[in-house]
Amino acid sequence: MRASADVRVFRTPDELAGALADFFVQRAREAITARDAFHVALAGGTTPKSAYALLAESPLRDNIEWAKVHVYFSDERCVPPQSEESNFKTADDVFLSRVSIPREHIYRMRGEEYPLEAARAYAELVSENLGQVPLFDLIMLGMGADGHTASLFPGTDPLIDTDLLVRAPYVEKMKTYRLTFTPRVINNSRHAVIATEGSAKAAALHAALEGPHDPIVYPVQIVAPATGSLTWLADAAAAAELS
Ligand code: 6PG
Repeated sequence: MRASADVRVFRTPDELAGALADFFVQRAREAITARDAFHVALAGGTTPKSAYALLAESPLRDNIEWAKVHVYFSDERCVPPQSEESNFKTADDVFLSRVSIPREHIYRMRGEEYPLEAARAYAELVSENLGQVPLFDLIMLGMGADGHTASLFPGTDPLIDTDLLVRAPYVEKMKTYRLTFTPRVINNSRHAVIATEGSAKAAALHAALEGPHDPIVYPVQIVAPATGSLTWLADAAAAAELS
């Protein structure tokens, strides 16, 4: 296990969702208390959906000053925002449309646009909001069964193009482009959290945390905030192969 990682295992997916939602609330309250704003990049995929739904309900919804929250995305599919594939749509349907975040505080990666242009435009936006090397209060991530995170997929050195903030990789196995933060952004955050659920993730989680360091094979291993914290949240099924 990498010494610097904080790994928390929960009995059930519901407990994992509760822990992820609580983690979000804690980071939001800290950031708003300290800097009167909370800049967070949401994870895509299905794992965080239950946590997003909890944030959109009482009591958690009532614990956050939503007007001070700014929402970004760690990665996005190259699809229109109305697509069921869209990470924005997933979060908007169960979470963002149900809390009082000003709509102008929700910054979509524009998956409907030409990928390279969408990546450039999003990099410009996050730099305008958060500085040349954007400093997020929280970056939320998941992990695929192949060890990818955000849209940093195996087979490509995640550190390629480190001068970029947002990349538009062509993902061969999916025959599609994706938009993704690079490690330069991810590892500059105050806090990064990686939530993993289900037995399909058990082998990758074991490899990522207890196997050799090889981020080309397991890109999730590249997540190591320089001065911020890294927290892994897993349910028992995903953690089943951890020693
Ligand atoms: C995406 C995500 C991706 C996701 C993992 C896990 O756009 O799909 O950003 O990195 O976190 O693929 O996805 P699940 O949570 O659906 O297993």
